[in-house]
Amino acid sequence: MSKRLPSNEDFARGKEVSIKLNGNLKVAYLGESVATVLLAEGITAMRTTIQGQARGVFCGMGVCFDCLVVVNGLPNTRACMTWVKEGMDIRTQDGLTPSK
Ligand code: FES
Repeated sequence: MSKRLPSNEDFARGKEVSIKLNGNLKVAYLGESVATVLLAEGITAMRTTIQGQARGVFCGMGVCFDCLVVVNGLPNTRACMTWVKEGMDIRTQDGLTPSK
């Protein structure tokens, strides 16, 4: 279940788009970052380090590189700096590869 706030007359979302998140079809909205989508879906650990330690959004502004995910097959993509797009394939990351 999405953790997004409900929209109302004072708050409108962008156009609805379909994405894949760890192989599952999900709804996202244009204007959201990939990090927003992951957090809305309850995923706070976006990657694990090579040593197996969980990492997620820390700075939220592209500096710490803790939010790295695999987007459309490209590893080490900063989730907080990437805008969601129709058909995007997002995977959490284990070390340097997509999560299994
Ligand atoms: S949360 Fe720090 S780079 Fe994305």
